[in-house]
Amino acid sequence: MHRSEHGRFAACANFIDGRWIASASGRVFENRNPADRDDLIGTFPESTPQDATAAITAAERAYATWRLFPAPRRAEILYRAAQLIAERKEQLARDMTREMGKVLEETRGDVQEAIDMTFFMAGEGRRLYGQTVPSELKDKFAMSVRQPLGVCGVITPWNFPMAIPSWKITPALVCGNTVVFKPSSLTPLSAFNFVKILEEAGIPGGVINLVTGGADVGTVLCTHDAVKVVSFTGSTAVGRLVNQNAAPGFKKVHLEMGGKNIVMIMDDADLELAVDGCVWGGFGTTGQRCTAASRVVVHERVYARFLDEFSRRVKQLRVGDGAGDGVQMGPSISESQLETVMRYVKVGREEGARLVIGGSRLTGEPYARGWFHEPTIFADVMPSMRIAREEIFGPVVSVMRCGSLEEAIGIGNDVSYGLSASIYTRDINKAFTAMRDMYTGIFYVNAPTIGAEVHLPFGGTKATGNGHREAGIAALDVFSEWKSIYIDFSGRLQRAQIDTQEL
Ligand code: UN1
Repeated sequence: MHRSEHGRFAACANFIDGRWIASASGRVFENRNPADRDDLIGTFPESTPQDATAAITAAERAYATWRLFPAPRRAEILYRAAQLIAERKEQLARDMTREMGKVLEETRGDVQEAIDMTFFMAGEGRRLYGQTVPSELKDKFAMSVRQPLGVCGVITPWNFPMAIPSWKITPALVCGNTVVFKPSSLTPLSAFNFVKILEEAGIPGGVINLVTGGADVGTVLCTHDAVKVVSFTGSTAVGRLVNQNAAPGFKKVHLEMGGKNIVMIMDDADLELAVDGCVWGGFGTTGQRCTAASRVVVHERVYARFLDEFSRRVKQLRVGDGAGDGVQMGPSISESQLETVMRYVKVGREEGARLVIGGSRLTGEPYARGWFHEPTIFADVMPSMRIAREEIFGPVVSVMRCGSLEEAIGIGNDVSYGLSASIYTRDINKAFTAMRDMYTGIFYVNAPTIGAEVHLPFGGTKATGNGHREAGIAALDVFSEWKSIYIDFSGRLQRAQIDTQEL
């Protein structure tokens, strides 16, 4: 293995039917560090539809036995995996920062989220609760049980390279499904690390399969007859395609897509706390979270004070290689993501928003070989502007003004997305009103829009999702379906709804 100044070089393979194998294409793609494009992290298979089909066939075969494996035993493998992730947390975080760019403190959080989720889902192995209910007829027993569906296609993004795969793969497995996993081509190493750990934890061959590559691999997962569930996190545009491709086969599709989340700051808020929340919510992960606080609406009475303090704090953020000491914000993930950020900054200027700080790509040392952009704040943004409505997925925050809670809620809801929202106030009535009236899947009081914990449902309304939730026990509803069972031990024909008099 070759070592660059950043670390190892990894030549990785797909994992199909319990074996590490190259793509049938013989081709590979490169994985490079977004903070330093000269740092080649490794190569990964550029897989073909043929590879994807081989993985699905293996998963289908493995399903025949895995579904009958007792759930507590399936869970034992997950417990071991969680333990291994915990033991290797630091190295896994370093690998992740190197391929994804976010700062080490955050990649440690990402790995921790995978540990938490894997433990949580392992716990489900001894629950997977159904219901037992009384029957309306004598000598009859009624209950419901969760049953697995079969092969699950899991398609994940680059911004949470281990957490999000764990949100999908661990509930799929504990429910008794098998998985074909296609991670983003920008963060394949964390996917490889996760699957390697599942292998070491003793997962039987074919139960989890890893196929790296581009859109044609994803298309096979969305269209192949043997795939029964597709779980996707990514952009709304791609989510729509996933849904369209999967619809003719009546697959169960779980989509988690864009966001345009808002922090609402009332005139009675603890402003210092609100500033802390907006810095973290807006610029954590370089703004590349679906939960990012990309909009802030502030009561006019505290608007100027908030803006002063917010820009002062954001100006101090130290931008650099996420692995560097004291660095608080890393690069954008890729050149094209950086271009998107720059395009939106231009749009914001043209729309007449006031650029308060930032607005430019960072060049020169130590930024010359990475995709760095200044943390950027636009003020006096109008809710109708594109920068207040479209997801940018970068370090750009739009600040707006409001005159009341009702106006803030109106602005908050007037976008096509509905993932997360938050309010800063000391008034319990305002907090509860906003909590009730914001049409989002997640809501925070006196905290930013990011920071969901794994044991509650995660997901959003409108163009953010399609009605499903992941994480928490809600995830089990994506990866299992109900079977209702009636056992008549009366020895005679009893007709529900009809034999109502005979007791
Ligand atoms: C995402 O942005 O895609 O709540 C996921 C949070 C994290 C997960 C974010 N726990 O911000």
